Amino acid sequence: MEKSILIKEKIKNFNKIITVSGDKSLSIRWILFSSLADGMSKAHNLLMSEDVLAAISAIKKLGIKVKIKKGVCVIYGNGINGYKYKKNITINAQNSGTLGRLLPGFLINTPYSIKIIGDKSLSKRDFKRISVPLSKFGAKFKLHKNKHLPLKIVGSKNLKPIFFKETLGSAQCKSSVIFAGMRTTGTSIIKAKKSRNHTELLARYLNLPINIQIKKNYDLIKISKVKKIKPLNYKIPSDISSSSFFIALTALMSNSKLTIKNVNINFSRTGIITILKKMGVKIFFINKKNYKGEKIADIRVESPNTLKGINCPKKLNSGAIDEFLIIFLVAAKAKGISYFKDIAELNQKESPRLKWGEKILNKMGIKTISSNNSLKIYGNPELKLKKNITIKNYLKDHRVFMTSVIAACAFGGNWKIHDKDSIKTSFPNFINIINQFKK
Ligand code: S3P
Repeated sequence: MEKSILIKEKIKNFNKIITVSGDKSLSIRWILFSSLADGMSKAHNLLMSEDVLAAISAIKKLGIKVKIKKGVCVIYGNGINGYKYKKNITINAQNSGTLGRLLPGFLINTPYSIKIIGDKSLSKRDFKRISVPLSKFGAKFKLHKNKHLPLKIVGSKNLKPIFFKETLGSAQCKSSVIFAGMRTTGTSIIKAKKSRNHTELLARYLNLPINIQIKKNYDLIKISKVKKIKPLNYKIPSDISSSSFFIALTALMSNSKLTIKNVNINFSRTGIITILKKMGVKIFFINKKNYKGEKIADIRVESPNTLKGINCPKKLNSGAIDEFLIIFLVAAKAKGISYFKDIAELNQKESPRLKWGEKILNKMGIKTISSNNSLKIYGNPELKLKKNITIKNYLKDHRVFMTSVIAACAFGGNWKIHDKDSIKTSFPNFINIINQFKK
C-alpha cells in the first residue's frame, strides 16, 4: 500500500458544511469511566481511531466486555472493583499518550504487576510525569531509563491521598491523578496549571465526589473515594482538534466559508479560535448548547480580508496545545511577525512538534527564529509555492501529516507527504473530508 500522498493542486474557494469525527479525549475518557461503571454504558459517535481502539483493547484485557455494532459502542462495566487483575498482563497503548498516561491512574490498586508498552513514538515520551505523582499514592513503578515505556506498575491496598502540584499544564497528568484519587480513603488535592478539563466535567456529571475551584491561573481539584459510577450513555461531539485543520484551511483561503457541525467548544479547547480571531479570521459559534457538562456548537468560519501576525499571549497556550502546528501555518501567511512563547511542551508530543512546525515552514521558504520554547514566524501574505516539497514524518505524527496536507492544499507546490497511515491514530476520515473540498 502506498504510504505517502502526492498533492499538486491547490483547493479552490469553497462554501461548505462538514462534520468531523468524535472527540478523542472524550472518547477515551468515556471508555475508561464506563469500564468501572455499574452496568451497561452506550456511546454514539465514538471516534473509531487506533488510539480509541487501543483503549477498548486495554479494558478488554482487564476483563471488561465491549460490543461495537452499527456505530454504537456498548461497555458492560462490572463496578468500581470490576477489573479482573491477572498475572503477566501487558497492555499496548500504541501511539496514545492519553491512554498510556491515564491508564496507570486506573490501575493504581492492581495486586499484580501490569506492563504498559507503546509504539516507537510513545516509547520516546516522558512517563516520569505520571509515575512520580502516582508513586506518592503508594503504587510502585519501574520505567525504562527511569522515564520511558515499557512501564511496570504494581498497585497497593493501602493507598494514601496526596497533594499534587501539576505544573506542566498536562491534562493527562491531572486526569491520571484524579483517577487514582478515586481509590483512596481521604481526599486528594490537585493544584493544576490550566489544561483541558473533560475528566473533571465527566466526574461532576457522574456525581462523583469531586470539587473543582476555578482560580485565575490554576484549578484546585479535590477528589475523594468513589463508591459507585453510574452507567454513562453519551453522544460524543465532534473534535475541535480535528476541526482545526479545516478552520485553518478556511483562514488561508480567500472568499471561502465553512460550517463544522456539532463541535465540542469546551473553553479549555478553544485556544485556536481565540488566536485565529485575533489574527483577523471571522469565527462564530452557532446553535450553542450544553451537553452533559460540555458545550457544543456549530463553528462558522469565514476567510479573512487580511491576516495579521500575533504576539500570542501565553495564557492561550494550554487551550491550543494540539493546534500549534496548524496555527504556525496560518502565521506563515499573516502580515508581520508572529511570536509564540513558552511552548516547550510541544516537543513532548507524538513528535517534537516545535521543531517540526519550524521545519515545515522553512521548507516552504518562510523565515523563522526559534529557541527551545519559542518560535518567531516572519509571515508572507503573498506566499505561493511552486517547488517540490517532501515531508518525511519519522515518528508518524498524525498532526505533522495533516498540517502538511493543509499547507499543500492552501499554498500550492508539488508535495510528497509520507506516512498517510498516521491519521489512523486520531482522524481516519481526514482524507475523505479533504476530498469533499475538491468537489
Ligand atoms: C490530552 C491532553 C494533551 C493533548 C493530548 C490529549 C488529553 O496532552 O496534547 O492530545 O486527552 O488529556 P498533555 O496532557 O500531555 O498536555
